[in-house]
Amino acid sequence: MSIKLRQVGPCFAAEVEGLDLTKPLSPDEVKAVHAGMDEYAVLVFHDQPLTDEQQLAFSRSLGELEHSIGASLRAPEEYRLPTTFADVSNLDKNNQPFARDDRRRLFAIGNRLWHSDSSFKPIPAMYSILHARSIPSTGGNTEFADMRAAYDALDEETKKEIEDLICEHSQIYSRQQIGFFDLTDEERERFKPVRQRLVRTHPSTGRKSVYLASHAGAIVGWPVPEARIFLRDLMDFATQREFVYSHRWSVGDLVMWDNRRTMHRGRPFPAQEPRDVRRTTLVGTPTI
Ligand code: OGA
Ligand code: MN
Repeated sequence: MSIKLRQVGPCFAAEVEGLDLTKPLSPDEVKAVHAGMDEYAVLVFHDQPLTDEQQLAFSRSLGELEHSIGASLRAPEEYRLPTTFADVSNLDKNNQPFARDDRRRLFAIGNRLWHSDSSFKPIPAMYSILHARSIPSTGGNTEFADMRAAYDALDEETKKEIEDLICEHSQIYSRQQIGFFDLTDEERERFKPVRQRLVRTHPSTGRKSVYLASHAGAIVGWPVPEARIFLRDLMDFATQREFVYSHRWSVGDLVMWDNRRTMHRGRPFPAQEPRDVRRTTLVGTPTI
């Protein structure tokens, strides 16, 4: 089978043709997918009618699965999907859209801020693999920003300044930004900040990138307001349109991204329409 990649983003992101993800991949195909990720950081596969089991098998062939337990406000008995998935949908256990003011929905729309998956965990994510089962009639794109291109475009002084900075990441910080403070003591304990480097070197390409997310709410050793302004400026710089690819979903699309060198965000869509997107996630390595 011959695999073809075609760049679709400004400086990264490619569409892949010639792979059927419902079937097990050969070792050469696995290699080609990793090589494609190294080059493009975001890969888009169209027309992949995957079951949960097929999505899990494809994901496992590329690395070790992350479990989603405890990362959202869904209680375990409210899970719609097994914990090998992050349920990125707007649906409850009975496949009904959450009410507009449901706190699980309001917490989850923090995904509309730029972020990198699981940067709030001590071991953050490597790849995320998102598959569309149903999509709304309008809106709901997912946007990606290339943090390697952003790093390369920084001036030398800023590169020096950020080289050894350590940030604190928590879902508490990202939710504060959208005015969501409604967390119990147990949730605050569960979401307590973890530390991540602000500059990462990619293990296979050796290239540096900015490792940023809206979860970053502090810089170790800095006063908080100064850190927040600094991170906001960096975020604005890193998400300029010239670094952004916007994915418009069709049912059956599978999009995979490297969280170590990209950020992403969801875009709004009508709250009452179902949007069933299911994410499997591969664990990465600690940054410090
Ligand atoms: C995710 C995510 C955004 C979206 O799957 O990690 O942030 O558009 N998704 O659903
Ligand atoms: Mn995400």
